[in-house]
Amino acid sequence: MTAFVIRLLASSALLTAAACATIEPTVQSPSIAAASAAVDVDRRAAEIVDAMTLDEQVQLLRTRQATDSQITAGPSRFEATPPVTTDGTIRSAGYVPGVPRLNWPQLQLSDGPLGVANMKGWIRGLEDQATNFPASLAWAATFDPDLIERVGETIGAEAHAKGFNVMLAGGLNLAREPRNGRNFEYAGEDPLLAGRVVGANIAGIQSRHVVSTVKHFAFNDQESGRGVIDVRIDEAAARESDLLAFEIAIDRGQPGSVMCAYNRLNGDYTCQNDWLLNQVLKGDWGYRGWVMSDWGGVHDFEKAVKGGLDQHSPQETDYFADLAGAVGRGELPASAVRDRAFRIVRSVIAVGALEHPATPGGAIDREANSRLAQHVAETGAVLLKNDGGLLPLEGRRRIVVIGGEADRGVLVGGGGSMVNPWGGISHEGDASGLASLGKYAFVPSSPVAALRALRSDSDVLYDDGSDPARAASAAAQADVAIVIALKQGTEAFDSPDLSLPRGQDDLIAAVAAANPRTVVVLETGNPVLMPWLESVPAVLQAWYPGQRGGEAIARLLTGVVSPSGRLPMTFPRGVEQLPRVAVDGYDPKATLFSPEPAPFSTDYHEGSDVGYRWFERTRALPLFPFGFGLTYTDFVHSDLRVEDGDQLRVTFTVKNTGRRAGVDIPQLYVAPPGRTHRLAGWARVALEPGESRRVTIEADPWVLASYENNAWRRNAGSYGVRVSMSAGASGLQGVAQLMEGGR
Ligand code: BGC
Repeated sequence: MTAFVIRLLASSALLTAAACATIEPTVQSPSIAAASAAVDVDRRAAEIVDAMTLDEQVQLLRTRQATDSQITAGPSRFEATPPVTTDGTIRSAGYVPGVPRLNWPQLQLSDGPLGVANMKGWIRGLEDQATNFPASLAWAATFDPDLIERVGETIGAEAHAKGFNVMLAGGLNLAREPRNGRNFEYAGEDPLLAGRVVGANIAGIQSRHVVSTVKHFAFNDQESGRGVIDVRIDEAAARESDLLAFEIAIDRGQPGSVMCAYNRLNGDYTCQNDWLLNQVLKGDWGYRGWVMSDWGGVHDFEKAVKGGLDQHSPQETDYFADLAGAVGRGELPASAVRDRAFRIVRSVIAVGALEHPATPGGAIDREANSRLAQHVAETGAVLLKNDGGLLPLEGRRRIVVIGGEADRGVLVGGGGSMVNPWGGISHEGDASGLASLGKYAFVPSSPVAALRALRSDSDVLYDDGSDPARAASAAAQADVAIVIALKQGTEAFDSPDLSLPRGQDDLIAAVAAANPRTVVVLETGNPVLMPWLESVPAVLQAWYPGQRGGEAIARLLTGVVSPSGRLPMTFPRGVEQLPRVAVDGYDPKATLFSPEPAPFSTDYHEGSDVGYRWFERTRALPLFPFGFGLTYTDFVHSDLRVEDGDQLRVTFTVKNTGRRAGVDIPQLYVAPPGRTHRLAGWARVALEPGESRRVTIEADPWVLASYENNAWRRNAGSYGVRVSMSAGASGLQGVAQLMEGGR
């Protein structure tokens, strides 16, 4: 510790003591304690920033490239290099040099959000592995922010043990577009659910002294043409939808940084968008952390500076290289640099990264962390259909598992979020004919091996599904057939449609025709169409289930655990039900090396009626609604009581009417006068067979308000109230009379 920092710590102790001397009580209330802690953080940040020269402050605002790895079109594509360079830089998404004379640390940035990312070991070598958590769609499907906070704590702890003090983790773009290749990195289509889940995850990461970055702010809801697209949406709709999700996550998680996105919003790139960054984020929301650009998201120095960007991330043109020059020439006040540097320093101090510096080589409990990943996969899998109680598989003798490369592992989503799992990537699948950043890659957790381990009394056979006729005949000779179907989502590309690729629909149809006891398990990062649904009695949506996904699938299918996930996205019956029949700007010939297409815009005419709200508005019947999910028992809701007036609270009874223990997730939907229903709260209720419980849900006041005439208001009037098992169920209905109010 340098003398400087010791002096800082000593002076803050003195100041705190002096401040306390004027306050009588010896026990501070939590709010006074929080306020004085915040003052302390501000003061320490100011002392450090003001001790920096202008050049040192500017240095903080320019993230550098932290890898020599080059993406090339060749077969090896990435050239892996040693994990740490001689000056201590960890190869990763980027770094910011430290200021040793002030004991200010180097910022080391790792990609997320699904773990400490290292795409298949390409970036820091095969030896650098981490816990591969399930897709964050599965996190949202748990409807359990507390559990996802634990995921955050674990990711934060792993990052810290690997020497990272900034995680680019906190993926939150609303799933407006179910063909978006990156939806698996986000938390679904509902602002409250996504905001609470991602906010909890951010809080968890930061509790381990690592800054978390919520991204991609905002409206980066599709990958096609992501660097040129102009999203058009009116202000009220913007505030009530994607921005509301960010607002909730930021409020709950207090992320140290926000990453602006590649796309434009109402004309301006989001990283140079005065309305978005200055007026809304820093102004209306009072955000005090820093805004970093997505990699290549800046296009103009002046606009970026005026638009509120604080930190420029690595790209070909370093637009922030001449910041000090601009100050010297009097084109920019020194305070513009100082304010930006202050935001960064403050966020780093606020998470405790100075007192608890991250250094590579820390201990990681792989087993405990893998178990947590498995628990999330088990909690977030969604049972979509289970006719005749085919699942759980009990007492069967001959089981054939078909397809999905299930003898070797489970699929992961592609792109920068890809985590090199413990044990390494098991293998790469054939990605020919599929747009993919990072090919098909599999975590070494085989559902077949896991089923065999659990059901030693049964024959568990495997057919790779490459020949539907052979697979059908194997199915015909089995008691039950399990088809595992795959569809990879990936950064940089969208899917042209909602179909399973590579003839898997035909495979499933052939197997189901041969054996009426067919189960389909979906490893996908988005909804898919199911033309075979009538002939398949059981469907389990497993998302990308991560490090122990095979074990999770096996335990769910055999009833060692009961499914409890609920859909965080609507599953449509076809693209014609969506606000846009085709993805604007989708190019079937696009590759990673294609030039940017010509600029184009997309009109979010659905406004804030995203997902299930769009289905309600258009009275369309989805294949499976948002919030839907079965388990191995049944629940009944009754006796709704609505308390209204200033606040809205509902109380009702949940009863487990089946023969197994299970978790119900009753959901509260509220429709303000003249508007569609919005998810306003939910509960997770674990009940034994025959058990019942009174349950109370408070409506989130932020969801009851609407943005009208440039302000949030809750109009007085009758609000439709529904407690149901999904957005598509009629459930228990009531009316609430609410008084006028704000948020
Ligand atoms: C992605 C970000 C990522 C960044 C750094 C970008 O291409 O959009 O999510 O954090 O790269 O790797």
